[in-house]
Amino acid sequence: MKSKFFVTTPIYYVNDAPHIGHAYTTILADVLARFHRVAGDEVFFLTGLDEHGQKVKQAAEKRNMSAQAHCDDLAPRFLNLWQKLDIRYDDFVRTTQERHKRIVQMVLQKVYEAGDIYVDEYEGWYSVAEERFITETEYATGQFRDVKKIQEKNYFFKMSKYQKKLVEYIETNPGFIQPEHRKNEMLGFLRQPLGDLCISRPKARMDWGIEIPFDRDYVTYVWFDALVNYISIPGYGSDDVKFKKWWPADVHLIGKDILTTHCVYWTTMLFALDLPLPKTIFAHGWWLIGQTKMSKSLGNVVNPLDLIEQHGTDAVRYYLMREMVLGMDANFTQDSFNKCYNSDLANDFGNLLNRVSGLITKNHEGKIPDPGVLTPAEEEIKAQANALQGKVTALINAFQVQEAVSLIIEFVRVLNKYMELQAPWKLAKTDMKAAERVLYTAAESLRIVSVMLSPVMPEKTKTVLDVLGSLGTTASWGQIPVGTILKSHPALFPRIEVEKK
Ligand code: ME8
Ligand code: MG
Repeated sequence: MKSKFFVTTPIYYVNDAPHIGHAYTTILADVLARFHRVAGDEVFFLTGLDEHGQKVKQAAEKRNMSAQAHCDDLAPRFLNLWQKLDIRYDDFVRTTQERHKRIVQMVLQKVYEAGDIYVDEYEGWYSVAEERFITETEYATGQFRDVKKIQEKNYFFKMSKYQKKLVEYIETNPGFIQPEHRKNEMLGFLRQPLGDLCISRPKARMDWGIEIPFDRDYVTYVWFDALVNYISIPGYGSDDVKFKKWWPADVHLIGKDILTTHCVYWTTMLFALDLPLPKTIFAHGWWLIGQTKMSKSLGNVVNPLDLIEQHGTDAVRYYLMREMVLGMDANFTQDSFNKCYNSDLANDFGNLLNRVSGLITKNHEGKIPDPGVLTPAEEEIKAQANALQGKVTALINAFQVQEAVSLIIEFVRVLNKYMELQAPWKLAKTDMKAAERVLYTAAESLRIVSVMLSPVMPEKTKTVLDVLGSLGTTASWGQIPVGTILKSHPALFPRIEVEKK
């Protein structure tokens, strides 16, 4: 059944150029969006940039630039990378845009008037790195960088008021926080009394933010600003029809580093606004280098542009989707990249195309042959091909992207085995009809595989579908036009030659 699918990524801080971690979440969202488009759903895919707050301001100061000029300078690096990675988003938000700022102020005013924001004098430990006040217990762990004692008047959001409601909500909506272990982590966190959230920063200390509408000496805390993008962009407060159509989001994709801000800050903000919660918040794990998280502040990042340069966009997209089991951490190494590329892409997928197009060109005048009557061997392949979309869709709906990709590539292996077993190059000498049947079957299966892999590798699968003279719109058997003249093509995925030690 056709439905709508609204997917979001975190909006990334513009304190530095994006790395593989940011690319990962964005590709993941793009892949889910594309799978839903293939299934016929109407999709809204939102991503963007988080431009306010201390981190961005400090990054700008380091470069001797105004905060806005710094953001304007860095934003194209994200946009450019997303373009290179074939990210087909439907909207791209920058939190410094008027359309967003206006709604944040409206939200603040509304929550203030409803009595859920109050002013208070507060003294506590403030972590500049984390951009928030930390508790005495957190301070005692010594794990926070850049901590200072701060006393000031601030505005607070009555988050504590919604604690009970939130716990009940999480408990009665099992799919809300995924994966399961993250849900349990949040329920564990919510066993402690929940404090209120400081949502303002005095301009005297930090002025890079959205002005608080009821006190012009203050700007909005960056998270109370950034999270609102999920509703400001689909039309909250500005376009009721659009907002009704898209909200609640089907999934907020995030990394596990921002679980609490989404599952606690954001959800209680939505309670205060009397809006429904997103259907799912899905927190994936981290890309690690060795034992540590790849991160801007640690400086151990892999630059996606280098990888694209060397191996192409689709190989990068494929590797990231294929290597990370959603919810777990994964290790990024050039070695695992090479292995994945050579085995799945060069040996399995690329090779299947080479064989099919090579043999059809050599023995069948370069035209898709007529299958004639299928034998049990082909009926088996056909049945598996026809079942593929259903299985993949079920996995995608369960956020099992790695498993979905594995399933498709597993079928490619089945096809290569079928080719070896049937040996149509031999059959061409003894039984032409059989050779034709086998090659039609392989070509049609390759077409279906390409349709199913198109969300992950939009460019390369388009090449394959072009070669096969097919639009690649459906994944059911029997679409490939018999007699189609195959187009010639370069090797899809030339092997990476790994130096032997
Ligand atoms: O937190 N592995 O922005 P941010 C996997 N502006 N994913 C990673 C990663 C890694 N090593 N490093 C980063 C912010 N990510 C806020 C978000 S949302 C309203 C505001 C990805 O630039 C992952 O999705 O620090 C993570 O949650 C996000 O980048 C953090 O990006
Ligand atoms: Mg971060």
